[in-house]
Order: sequence, then C-alpha cells, then structure tokens
Amino acid sequence: MMHSCNQRRMITWSLLCLIFSLFNSILVFASPVRNLCPPDQKDALWEFKNEFYVQEFYTYGMVVVDKKTERWRNNTDCCSWDGVSCDSKTGKVVELDLMVGSLNGPLRSNSSLFRLQHRQSLDLGYNNLSGILPDSIGNLKHLRVLSLGACNFFGKVPSSLGNLSYLTDLDLSVNDFTGELPDSMGNLKRLTELQIVATKLSGNFPLMLLNLSELTGIDLRSNQFEGVLPSNMSSLSKLESFRISDNSFSGSIPSSLFMIPSLIRLRLERNDFSGPLDIGNVSSPSQLGVLSLGENNFDGPSRDLYRN
Ligand SMILES: *[C@@H]1O[C@H](CO)[C@@H](O)[C@H](O)[C@H]1NC(C)=O
Ligand SMILES: *[C@@H]1O[C@H](CO)[C@@H](O)[C@H](O)[C@H]1NC(C)=O
Ligand SMILES: *[C@@H]1O[C@H](CO)[C@@H](O)[C@H](O)[C@H]1NC(C)=O
Ligand SMILES: *[C@@H]1O[C@H](CO)[C@@H](O)[C@H](O)[C@H]1NC(C)=O
Ligand SMILES: *[C@@H]1O[C@H](CO)[C@@H](O)[C@H](O)[C@H]1NC(C)=O
Ligand SMILES: *[C@@H]1O[C@H](CO)[C@@H](O)[C@H](O)[C@H]1NC(C)=O
Ligand SMILES: *[C@@H]1O[C@H](CO)[C@@H](O)[C@H](O)[C@H]1NC(C)=O
Repeated sequence: MMHSCNQRRMITWSLLCLIFSLFNSILVFASPVRNLCPPDQKDALWEFKNEFYVQEFYTYGMVVVDKKTERWRNNTDCCSWDGVSCDSKTGKVVELDLMVGSLNGPLRSNSSLFRLQHRQSLDLGYNNLSGILPDSIGNLKHLRVLSLGACNFFGKVPSSLGNLSYLTDLDLSVNDFTGELPDSMGNLKRLTELQIVATKLSGNFPLMLLNLSELTGIDLRSNQFEGVLPSNMSSLSKLESFRISDNSFSGSIPSSLFMIPSLIRLRLERNDFSGPLDIGNVSSPSQLGVLSLGENNFDGPSRDLYRN
C-alpha cells in the first residue's frame, strides 16, 4: 500500500513537473511571438515608409532630424522599429511617432497609413507632407493624440476629423490651412488640448468649441480669425489656458470668460478688442496667473485690473 502510494505520488509529481516545464517552455517561446507585429501591420508600415523620400530640410528653425524610417529593417519585428509601438496583447500598432523624420511627399488619401486602424497616437510633426490633409484621416477612429504640426499642409481642415471621437489632443499648428474649422469638430467631446497656432484659418470664433466642455487648453494664436467672442463661454468650464493673440478679434471681452474658475492663462494681445474690461467679478479666488492684453483698443478705468 505504502509503496504504491509513494509511487503514485511520485508519478503525480513527475507529471506536475512535466506540465510545469512544458508550460514554462511554452511561455519562453510564446512571449516574443506575442509581441510580433502582424504581417498586415508590417506591410502597411513598410509601404508607408516607401511613400516618401527621406531628405533633410530646414523648417521653421527646426534643425533636429531623426530619420527613423531609414533605420527600419523589414526582416525584424516591426514592433521594435523606431517610432513604432504595439499593443502588448494583439501586436497591433498603437503608436507611430515620426516627428522630424525628414519625410517628403504628399500624404495620399490611399496611403497605407490609413490601414493602421488601431493606432491611438500619431505624430508626423515637422515633416514635409506638402499637400492636403486627406479625408481618410477620419478613418483612424481610435486616435487619441494627433500631432500634425509643421507638415506643410494646405487647403481645408477636413470635416472627417469630427469622426475621431476619442481624440484628446489635436495639434495642427504651423500649416497653411485656410477657410474655417469644420463644425464637425463639435463632436470631439473628449478633446482636452487644441493647438492650431500659425495657420491661415479665418472666420469667426469657432462656436462649436463651446460644446467641448473637456477642453483645458485652446491655442489659436497667429491666425486670421475675426469678429466678436461669444458671450456664453462658461460652458468651457475646465479651461485653463486660452490663447488667441495675433488675430483680428474685435468687440469686448465677454465677462463669462473671466468667470471660468479654472482659468490660469489668458493671452489676448494684438487683436482689435475694444471697450472696457469687465473683469470685476472674477471667480474668487482667481487662479489667473498670466493675463496679456497689449496692443488692443481697450478703454475705461483700469482700477479693476489691480483689484485683489
Ligand atoms: C524587404 O527588403 C528587401 C530588400 O530591401 C526587399 O527586396 C523586399 O521586397 C522587402 N520585403 C518586403 C515585404 O517589403
Ligand atoms: C517639400 O516637398 C515638396 C514636394 O514634395 C518640394 O517641392 C519642396 O521643395 C519640399 N520642401 C522642402 C523645404 O524641402
Ligand atoms: C494611390 O493613389 C495614387 C494616385 O493618387 C496612385 O498613383 C497610387 O498608385 C495609389 N496607390 C495605391 C497603393 O493604390
Ligand atoms: C463619419 O463616419 C461615418 C460612418 O461611421 C460616415 O458615414 C461619415 O461620412 C463620416 N463623416 C465624415 C465627416 O467623414
Ligand atoms: C452643440 O451640441 C448640441 C447638442 O449637444 C447641438 O445641438 C449643437 O448643434 C452643437 N453646437 C455646435 C455649434 O456644434
Ligand atoms: C452661445 O452663443 C452663440 C451666439 O453668440 C449661440 O449661437 C450658441 O448657440 C450659444 N451656445 C451655447 C452652448 O449656449
Ligand atoms: C458683480 O457682482 C455683483 C453681485 O453679484 C453685481 O451686482 C455686479 O453687477 C457684478 N459686476 C459686474 C461687473 O459684473
């Protein structure tokens, strides 16, 4: 009895050992496989790389270059390529950061970039993509962060941007975009940071921004916006930074703006604002740390400015 019991125990132990070591070796072999970028993702990246020619160019004083795509090797796991990050479970490409990548050439509407549907973050800043920003950008539905600053884009900001409903950060600065921002951007309910500095956008203050109550930063400096600011800005209840200097806004500053309790930074200089400053009832205690008003046409008593 004793003997067979021991034997049985030994067999059980050996079995357990065997299972354990099998499991271990599966883990060892499985873990690098798990991170392998799926072939469709790899092909799309490789095609994307080949859509551009890589050549340094000097733009807006930016002299840093980082030719990441030139270091890609198509016989290696694309999740290890410079600027590429993959989801650790699915292997899908979730981040692509090719900022200052020296990419030259237009971003075509059929670019393989738009096949990388799982991406959450895309940074193509400081590349020469001279051309329009194609509608297909709206296909990247999972995007949370989109940085397209200084890409030599021109033409309209596509209304398909409004389909990127997970977007929290959008940067379209330093491009030659013209016309007005599309109303569809009023759908970007999760947007917290909007930066569109130094483009040629025009028209009135984009009213649909008032619908984006998660916004903490709006930066529309150096554009060609005009007209009065809306009177009801209090829906931007989390706004910390509001920068609209170097435009042609006119009229008075709505007191609803000064009453946003979270406001820290307000830059309004070099516009055509006029009238008295109605900042008598700023929220108490106000957090306002930067207030820039120069080169406008304000009038009226200035004592309110010094009130504490
Ligand atoms: C990988 O690169 C080699 C040489 O550069 C090329 O011949 C081959 O077609 C490439 N493979 C893919 C999948 O693009
Ligand atoms: C940007 O690309 C366009 C066309 O692809 C080219 O004509 C232009 O010279 C490039 N700009 C710079 C600064 O290299
Ligand atoms: C994309 O469209 C251009 C014309 O706009 C065409 O020349 C090119 O072959 C197309 N590429 C693919 C991969 O379909
Ligand atoms: C947004 O996506 C829907 C389908 O999900 C599509 O019908 C619509 O045309 C898209 N809107 C824009 C502006 O691209
Ligand atoms: C703001 O959102 C409301 C509904 O939530 C909608 O009716 C209105 O048209 C939107 N306004 C703008 C300017 O997008
Ligand atoms: C804000 O005021 C504008 C007019 O200045 C109006 O068109 C818009 O519907 C108002 N929006 C909200 C959210 O009250
Ligand atoms: C400030 O608030 C007081 C009381 O709420 C009100 O009577 C007054 O008109 C307000 N002043 C301004 C400039 O809004």
